[in-house]
Amino acid sequence: RIVIAELFRNAEAYADQEVTVAGWVRSIRDMKNFGFVTLNDGSCFKDLQVVMDRESLPEYDVIAAQGVSAALIVTGTVVLTPDAKQPFELKAANIQVEGESREDYPLQKKRHTNEFLRTIQHLRPRTNLFRAVFRVRSVAAYALHEFFQERGFVYVNTPIITASDAEGAGEMFRVTTIDPANPPLDDKGNVDYSQDFFGKATNLTVSGQLQAESFAMAFGDVYTFGPTFRAEDSNTARHAAEFWMVEPEIAFADLDDDMNLAEDMLKHVINTVLEKCPDEMNMFNSFVDKGLIERLQHVANSDFIRVTYTEAVDILLDAAAKGHKFDYPVSWGIDLQTEHERYLTEEHFKKPTFVTDYPVEIKAFYMRLNDDGKTVAAMDCLVPGIGEIVGGSQREERLDVLENRIRELDMDPEQYKFYCDLRRYGSCRHAGFGLGFERMVMYLTGVSNIRDVLPHPRTVGNAEF
Ligand code: 4AD
Ligand code: MG
Repeated sequence: RIVIAELFRNAEAYADQEVTVAGWVRSIRDMKNFGFVTLNDGSCFKDLQVVMDRESLPEYDVIAAQGVSAALIVTGTVVLTPDAKQPFELKAANIQVEGESREDYPLQKKRHTNEFLRTIQHLRPRTNLFRAVFRVRSVAAYALHEFFQERGFVYVNTPIITASDAEGAGEMFRVTTIDPANPPLDDKGNVDYSQDFFGKATNLTVSGQLQAESFAMAFGDVYTFGPTFRAEDSNTARHAAEFWMVEPEIAFADLDDDMNLAEDMLKHVINTVLEKCPDEMNMFNSFVDKGLIERLQHVANSDFIRVTYTEAVDILLDAAAKGHKFDYPVSWGIDLQTEHERYLTEEHFKKPTFVTDYPVEIKAFYMRLNDDGKTVAAMDCLVPGIGEIVGGSQREERLDVLENRIRELDMDPEQYKFYCDLRRYGSCRHAGFGLGFERMVMYLTGVSNIRDVLPHPRTVGNAEF
């Protein structure tokens, strides 16, 4: 038995030979004396055309009566068809039914809305859209590993259960074995987490960064790639409660090195997916987002924009003065909202844009304070259609400055002792960033809702099986 992808790769080599394939029916056409079955086995985006001849195929009627998605094993001869739409077809000599389908199969041949498909998460991988999205997702993951491995980065697995809040935003899911109906209480009547499983309060990780930093201080260049969890109450098309993040961390490096790395990484993933997934990308280009391929090619071949937060705010103020309406008023010090990010990258620069040096008040405790004392060496990469795809920074490597910041923010110094230790024993300039993997897949495919690039999306109010 061979996979259909192998036939598409080497049709000529199989010409006039007998092969066996196994897959699922996409459509059946019965023309009385002969019939066509299109079959897909998941090995490639394309369907195989199987031709049945009533005279030479005793099981013709049984097969012609099968429904969409029936599982078949087909043995037949490869016939090259240079003048037809598909380069070859399989003339069936024998077809076995491995598993029948049913008339109530929900994915009969017609277009379904993405909203409807979300209600059948277990069946939607069989649609064209999802077969394309999840192949691209897989190839993009491979491309990321390839990018970092080829540069000598060490892949580190950081813990899922953690006691620290890496982002300090308090958006964590608690992990506990305490019975909510009967919790142990301390003197003040609060839940006593010292009696919990780990002897302290723990959470699902919001980022592997702090642990990655400890490895960067030994290996130099490292990256994580794993699931992260955020109990953000944002019901948007770009936020999930469980998503995957790639987080490189580089030693003896500053913010420019960090942006160069992010830009090279994004370009490598785009180029790899364009090269390895032509059928999938053509489908997105035709049916999901017209012009997608050309835009991605352009992004992969041109420099990203780099502006400071202060310059970005000036651009936005200028736009507002010229009559552009923002729901959220712009002034120096605000956290840029999605509408601002989109204006910058979609309307002003029309390109991926790094915004750097944000006000210290709106960024995480670990970012390096700039000499102005007002801003930190942060960078967000904004891309058209998505907004923020990458968020990163140069880290505060000076022990005294970091300890000050931890005190200012009233964080528990005991919990961040390990983090300060990294500054005690051979501290060095270092930087890193997080790439939201789902946002990358959205960017690559043109799919506009994060729920449709996650195999089993977890969002506010939604966690199906
Ligand atoms: O900007 P964030 O919060 O940065 C960090 O977590 C840093 N610790 C990264 C680092 O420097 N090592 O998140 C990084 C990226 C965002 O730019 C976004 O693409 C994605 O993660 N992201 C989300 N993706 C989907 N759903 C959510 N709720 C997300 N929150 C962040
Ligand atoms: Mg961010």
